[in-house]
Amino acid sequence: MGNTFLNLALLIIFHFSMSTFSMKLTNILTDQSALLTLKDHVTHDPGNILATNWSSSTPVCKWFGVSCGSRHRRVTALDLSGLGLVGTLPSHLGNLSFLSFLYITDNSFHDIIPVQLSNLQRLKHIDFGNNSFSGEIPSSLGYLPKLEILVLSENWLSGSIPPSIFNISSLQV
Ligand SMILES: *[C@@H]1O[C@H](CO)[C@@H](O)[C@H](O)[C@H]1NC(C)=O
Ligand SMILES: *[C@@H]1O[C@H](CO)[C@@H](O)[C@H](O)[C@H]1NC(C)=O
Ligand SMILES: *[C@@H]1O[C@H](CO)[C@@H](O)[C@H](O)[C@H]1NC(C)=O
Ligand SMILES: *[C@@H]1O[C@H](CO)[C@@H](O)[C@H](O)[C@H]1NC(C)=O
Repeated sequence: MGNTFLNLALLIIFHFSMSTFSMKLTNILTDQSALLTLKDHVTHDPGNILATNWSSSTPVCKWFGVSCGSRHRRVTALDLSGLGLVGTLPSHLGNLSFLSFLYITDNSFHDIIPVQLSNLQRLKHIDFGNNSFSGEIPSSLGYLPKLEILVLSENWLSGSIPPSIFNISSLQV
């Protein structure tokens, strides 16, 4: 009776730790897969930065422009400013769930700003200035609760600024 209870308890603990383990494993791989998808969406990379540096044989956290948090070892910042990149942003960026800082200033990213960015509830800074984005500003960006800085200047965006943006109480710039 006591043994059965003990076995059951151990089984539950084992299952719990295995699921925590596999969750973490999935998560850093999710970050890697999101960034590799971004790399696939870059059609011109004049400095060959992503081509040579973003390789699955190197840990994601050591890739050029990528920073990870010390606690969760997940991608917290992405800075690809001024690399002269041409491409589009895949919806997969919405899977970088620990991302706080996203800087892609001074490149030639075009097409729409993916609505999936509004999944990134930890985002504090978005700087997309001086690119070639078109279409409308997704109103769902107004539901990013920690957003402090939002730069979309020097693009080809159309439409009006969604009212939801003015609702972000943390917004400073
Ligand atoms: C990738 O970039 C990082 C950061 O600049 C650098 O430390 C590393 O040596 C580079 N790795 C390769 C394989 O180019
Ligand atoms: C990440 O996002 C894309 C598209 O937004 C989705 O298709 C994919 O299944 C997501 N999940 C993982 C674990 O990559
Ligand atoms: C905009 O970015 C391009 C590179 O894509 C750069 O050559 C240009 O100087 C930038 N313009 C401004 C005003 O910073
Ligand atoms: C702004 O916030 C208020 C209060 O939470 C809400 O009622 C309103 O619908 C929001 N407006 C937009 C455009 O999201």
